Amino acid sequence: MKKHIALVPGDGIGPDIVAEAVKVLDVVGKKFGHTFTYDTYLAGGCAIDATGKPLSEETLAGCSKSDSVLLGAVGGPKWDKVASDLRPEKALLGLRGGMGLFCNLRPAILYKQLADACPLKNEIVGEGLDIMVVRELTGGIYFGERGRDGDKAYDTMSYTTAEIERIVRKGFEIAQKRKKRLTSVDKANILNSSQLWREIVEHLASEYPDVAVNHLYVDNAAMQLVRNPRQFDVIVTENMFGDILSDEASQITGSIGMLPSASLRGDSFGMYEPIHGSAPDIAGMDIANPIATILSVAMMLRYSFSMESEAAAIEDSVSKVLDAGYRTADIYTESMKKVGTKEMGDLIAQAL
Ligand code: NAD
Ligand code: IPM
Ligand code: MN
Repeated sequence: MKKHIALVPGDGIGPDIVAEAVKVLDVVGKKFGHTFTYDTYLAGGCAIDATGKPLSEETLAGCSKSDSVLLGAVGGPKWDKVASDLRPEKALLGLRGGMGLFCNLRPAILYKQLADACPLKNEIVGEGLDIMVVRELTGGIYFGERGRDGDKAYDTMSYTTAEIERIVRKGFEIAQKRKKRLTSVDKANILNSSQLWREIVEHLASEYPDVAVNHLYVDNAAMQLVRNPRQFDVIVTENMFGDILSDEASQITGSIGMLPSASLRGDSFGMYEPIHGSAPDIAGMDIANPIATILSVAMMLRYSFSMESEAAAIEDSVSKVLDAGYRTADIYTESMKKVGTKEMGDLIAQAL
């Protein structure tokens, strides 16, 4: 198969982790007889430096016409003082919103080899922690009416029935293929948009009688994630709650550097991105963990290209390298072998 991929490395550790993921993708191509071609686009802080804007039409158009997109991360302290609408992070929202990528899948899977890197006690996390966070990605407070008016600033969380229904349906459909448990997370004790959200979940539940549904308020959900993470199978939630809970869930897997994501619009097209940011504190040091980005490529192969064996081959290689005791600094525990970003990429590519 021939596939054309848009690369958006971004800022900070973004270019380094994307380079490792491309290394792995090229080996998959050779091994399975596929041709992957690439175009690289600017977005985020690097685009501000080059063009004055975080997201150009060229980048959005190039990504839109590709077969899929791989994004590193955007942002950093260098651009923290630029005007709100020109911040690097706006590029990410422009790409997600501009391409209609409303469904963000963030699988929090604890590799058994990383049990010691998980901050929770073994008996709490148990074996085989596997939670799928289904995050709404193009609505809510990120995209609502916002502004600054003298000494007042505001951001609005608003949702339509259609926006809620399409993401909640994804949650149910994914739960049907897993352990058939769906937890909807909201703040329906206070927010109107959450009350609508909960009504829709309850209404749709009758169409998915095989799925057991429960509702949690987001504050309780954040607590339950560390009290008893095994109660969760699929979590479906709005944009900002999903952002926060997925960072929390990622640490249970050992590190935020382990968590990939797929941002989908309902057909085979998608943008694939680690859930972490540009990690300015470790940028340029060759210590960032590239696994979240490499696993994002596995998700690309699975969801956009229907290459299930190829995706599984990447995941197996990651597992083998962890079995062999190799760890980047973020997942390092005593007596393991510490490696840098490039070496981790090489090891995973070789294991293929
Ligand atoms: P961050 O995720 O960049 O970093 C949080 C902490 O996790 C840091 O200590 C960092 O070193 C560590 N970390 C992150 N990724 C890692 C990896 N792969 N390997 C090892 N350690 C890793 O979050 P932040 O510091 O809050 O944000 C930094 C910048 O990134 C900000 O400008 C923010 O807006 C941006 N950001 C971008 C994205 C994105 O592009 N998708 C996501 C989150 C944050
Ligand atoms: C993420 C990031 C982004 C988000 C920011 C950088 C806009 O935190 O991808 O999780 O909040 O969605
Ligand atoms: Mn985030």
